Amino acid sequence: MEFKDVVRKRRSTRRYTGKPVEKEKLRAAMELALLAPSSKNTRSTRLMAVTNLDKVHALSRLRDFGSSLLEEAGAAIVILGDTEASPMWQINAALMANTLQLALVDQGLASCWVHVGDYLTIQDNTDSQRSEDYVKEVLPEIPEGYRVLSVISIGYADYTPKPLPEYEGPERILFVE
Ligand SMILES: Cc1cc2nc3c(=O)[nH]c(=O)nc-3n(C[C@H](O)[C@H](O)[C@H](O)COP(=O)(O)O)c2cc1C
Repeated sequence: MEFKDVVRKRRSTRRYTGKPVEKEKLRAAMELALLAPSSKNTRSTRLMAVTNLDKVHALSRLRDFGSSLLEEAGAAIVILGDTEASPMWQINAALMANTLQLALVDQGLASCWVHVGDYLTIQDNTDSQRSEDYVKEVLPEIPEGYRVLSVISIGYADYTPKPLPEYEGPERILFVE
């Protein structure tokens, strides 16, 4: 697929067909995503693919809004950052997550970012469990010292999202001569 088509085709996709997601496709996309840049080449980001559907579906409860799409996903990739390796771990992780989402498009897969960060499992209840702690309970394999930036929900798209408008106005692109 041409680069511009990959970029255009990437849309946050929240409904999937239920067709199983092949591990080789996840591996190919993750290997490409590892080429994303990182501050001072610290390579602070780790990717954890989850193909066990019970675990993928359990991740849908990491928040009380914006995460239920994981209930029908065929796989998920958890975006992890080593806080000791770089103070820029979040930026590094976000760059890799975006590269990963583009690489998934190239594999014919659809995805959506589900944010974890500092969210709570119940947004309006400050006593509720932190989303990150919930993710670590579902996935005890996450190594010590790693923070969870997000979970990328993955599957075969059940619909074709409309392409984004080509250009929204002059204020987002500036030229200074
Ligand atoms: C930092 C970040 C956090 C996001 N968190 C969520 C989320 O928790 N749940 C969700 O359904 N979508 C989430 N999204 C997807 C955005 O809603 C989506 O990118 C935006 O609406 C634009 O649509 P598009 O991705 O189809 O272009 C997130 C995207 C980004 C970049």
